[in-house]
Amino acid sequence: MQLLAVLSLLFTFFTTITNADSTFSPAHPPAIPLAVRSPYLSTWLNAGGARNTGFGGNLAGSWAVHWSQQTTGWTGMIRVDGKVFTWMGAISPKAVEQKSFKYTSTKSTFTMEVDGKVQMIITFLSPVTPNDMKRQSLTMSYMEVTVSSLDDKPHDVQIYTDISAQWASGEITAEVSWSQATTGDVAYHRVWRSTQSIFDENGKPDGNGMANWGNVYYAAKRDSDLSTRSGEDTVVRNEFINTGKLDNSNDSEFRPIGLRWPVFAFAKDLDLVSKPVSTLFTIGLLQKDAIQFLGANGTSAIPSLWTSYFSTEESALSWFHNDYSSQQGLSTSLDNQVVKDSVAAAGQDYLTITSLAVRQAFGATQLVGTPSKTFLFMKEISSNGNTQTVDVIFPLHPILLYFNPKLMKNLLDPLYEQQESGHWPHTYSIHDLGYHYPNATGHADGNDEEMPVEECGNMLIMTLAYAQRTGDVNYLKQHYKLLNQWTGFLVNDSLIPANQLSTDDFAGPLQNQTNLALKGIIGIQAMSEVSRLTRNTADAKKYHDIAHEYINKWQDLGIAKGENPPHTTLNYGYNQSWGLLYNIWADKELGLNLVPQSVYDMQDEFYPTQQAKYGVRLDTRKNWTKADWEMFAAAAANSKEVREMFVKLLARFINGTPMNRPFSDLYDVDTGDWPGVTFTARPVVGGVFALLVNPPSKRVASDATVWKA
Ligand SMILES: *[C@@H]1O[C@H](CO)[C@@H](O)[C@H](O)[C@H]1NC(C)=O
Ligand SMILES: *[C@@H]1O[C@H](CO)[C@@H](O)[C@H](O)[C@H]1NC(C)=O
Ligand SMILES: *[C@@H]1O[C@H](CO)[C@@H](O)[C@H](O)[C@H]1NC(C)=O
Ligand SMILES: *[C@@H]1O[C@H](CO)[C@@H](O)[C@H](O)[C@H]1NC(C)=O
Ligand SMILES: *[C@@H]1O[C@H](CO)[C@@H](O)[C@H](O)[C@H]1NC(C)=O
Ligand SMILES: *[C@@H]1O[C@H](CO)[C@@H](O)[C@H](O)[C@H]1NC(C)=O
Ligand SMILES: *[C@@H]1O[C@H](CO)[C@@H](O)[C@H](O)[C@H]1NC(C)=O
Repeated sequence: MQLLAVLSLLFTFFTTITNADSTFSPAHPPAIPLAVRSPYLSTWLNAGGARNTGFGGNLAGSWAVHWSQQTTGWTGMIRVDGKVFTWMGAISPKAVEQKSFKYTSTKSTFTMEVDGKVQMIITFLSPVTPNDMKRQSLTMSYMEVTVSSLDDKPHDVQIYTDISAQWASGEITAEVSWSQATTGDVAYHRVWRSTQSIFDENGKPDGNGMANWGNVYYAAKRDSDLSTRSGEDTVVRNEFINTGKLDNSNDSEFRPIGLRWPVFAFAKDLDLVSKPVSTLFTIGLLQKDAIQFLGANGTSAIPSLWTSYFSTEESALSWFHNDYSSQQGLSTSLDNQVVKDSVAAAGQDYLTITSLAVRQAFGATQLVGTPSKTFLFMKEISSNGNTQTVDVIFPLHPILLYFNPKLMKNLLDPLYEQQESGHWPHTYSIHDLGYHYPNATGHADGNDEEMPVEECGNMLIMTLAYAQRTGDVNYLKQHYKLLNQWTGFLVNDSLIPANQLSTDDFAGPLQNQTNLALKGIIGIQAMSEVSRLTRNTADAKKYHDIAHEYINKWQDLGIAKGENPPHTTLNYGYNQSWGLLYNIWADKELGLNLVPQSVYDMQDEFYPTQQAKYGVRLDTRKNWTKADWEMFAAAAANSKEVREMFVKLLARFINGTPMNRPFSDLYDVDTGDWPGVTFTARPVVGGVFALLVNPPSKRVASDATVWKA
């Protein structure tokens, strides 16, 4: 009796809390993207972990952070009939009541209620426009705040928002400068590090951090209801709390970020609100020069691509701000495309995964150069700061094949240019273009994080995948020499791979890795196809024969036939070992039909025997797994049940992980926890799109004459 009473009391208590909580759909993610457009404009709300005890997932109550966890102070207040509430940030006025949160591929939307009187809908839109280079090049993001009456009565409403100078650098002792002005019909604050340190970031060497150069913009439409102010945080916020407006003044003392914290604020008087009224804000980080690249003509600074379309930062800013309705339309159609295709491929759980990955994947990239020579640069993020890491591009690339395969060329071009101009001494492929983003200054001494079989296989697979989907056979011709050289390396080293790292470098080097060998062998067959498409028929036959000989031997070396059920091993000869055979997906992706159907079927039988709470382990060395490789394994499966098993478990991880950071690709299958510090916010989550990558069309794969040579 007594026990029951206690239980029912607990139950009541628990349900009360639950009722007060916001709902989250389609899932409660470990972190919510707020303004995520580039490695440096990447602000999130940590939403997991503390969700049962703290503010997890509530916009009011905690600070937004750069992915690397430096606070990017961003606040919001609302004044309703003279009473003030907080809707964003860790500031003192009472929080609004968050009712729901929802994410799509490009938007994070919060619905709030204020004092039972008004409803707020706050939408963070970070556009992703893979087929529109001009829009994709603009490293800016939107926040729209819509207010309406809840009780049919008009209410007197003012809204307020500010950013702190933390957006301008991760070092709070750095001095910042600012100005406020109007361009066209857009009022803006500009904040920058007084001493610009170009191509530099804090948190080096491996810590990873925010940029130490460029200008931060915070903008809104200039009209008579808008007021602005810069100044010390408490002073500026108190003015709004007390008066509902700002005095348009400017703090005249440039100073360090953390000294009497300067903030840059807007207040908007909405007057009497009954029907929905929207106010739009733009946040951006603009850097004229973005990347330092060692190419054919030596090292040079490469400008952001938007500089080709706009002569000034102000014109880019006002164009972007006024482009909102077009961007909304484009974003909604992209969101809908992902909904339709994801649900059709593997159901609602799959959409939970894909729609969370889109901004994270594109947010690790940046378009630079000019329209006639455009590079898409990528930062590895969190695991280290490497630029253009080949085995990070590999897991990223399914999302590009899905949205726009032409972007593959923009990613691969700098890798080819640097290696073809003699800046890399080895016969195998380089691992990355530079130790630390935004420097793509290479490794002329040959010392990088060597992954020879891995990267040769990746380059061959990705180059062919690009050409198959765009018809750009000329690209294969242009890079034939290097592709052929890498294939030579694979012929030497893929069947019996020496002791070396695979992309899963956190697990350490290992000899005879079954999955790594498979990647190399598929790479050789990919080169046979490259040779055929470019009419190098002798090479086509030679590599076809080698790849087929190797795949037969590989089955003897890498399959534990006597196990029940049989499966491929982690490394040759260790029959009890196993791992996700994710590289097999490349055979399907390229339509090669190299790996016998029996191998696919065997793995389909095996994986379900190894399911844990949140996934299937990466391999027998540890209890962790990789989200990207799980989706590759799912995409390779012929069995619908196996695909759906992987998808269900990964969606469960997203909704259940105790981690409190942007989506980790490395996590423990039993606890859902992550290893910490590294492996958050990485572009590799683009790999979850593997299930949406169509095989190359038969016409292209079977008849080289369709190509215009
Ligand atoms: C990039 O290289 C420059 C020197 O050219 C250096 O000052 C800067 O710190 C480097 N950036 C990073 C993030 O390591
Ligand atoms: C704001 O103050 C700074 C520092 O005194 C000054 O350089 C800047 O021109 C001022 N801006 C405006 C718009 O008054
Ligand atoms: C290198 O510079 C030459 C001369 O200006 C130019 O013709 C060539 O296109 C440049 N090469 C690359 C890869 O940018
Ligand atoms: C393959 O091995 C042969 C024999 O050791 C060697 O001469 C050749 O350079 C190697 N090829 C590559 C691309 O490393
Ligand atoms: C790697 O596999 C080959 C072929 O089975 C074998 O000869 C060699 O001893 C293996 N190496 C190790 C370290 O297991
Ligand atoms: C591993 O399995 C193979 C057959 O797949 C068998 O020939 C071999 O003896 C087994 N090795 C051990 C150590 O059990
Ligand atoms: C996996 O987790 C279990 C407990 O759930 C533990 O006993 C085991 O040692 C772990 N295995 C590895 C390889 O870490």
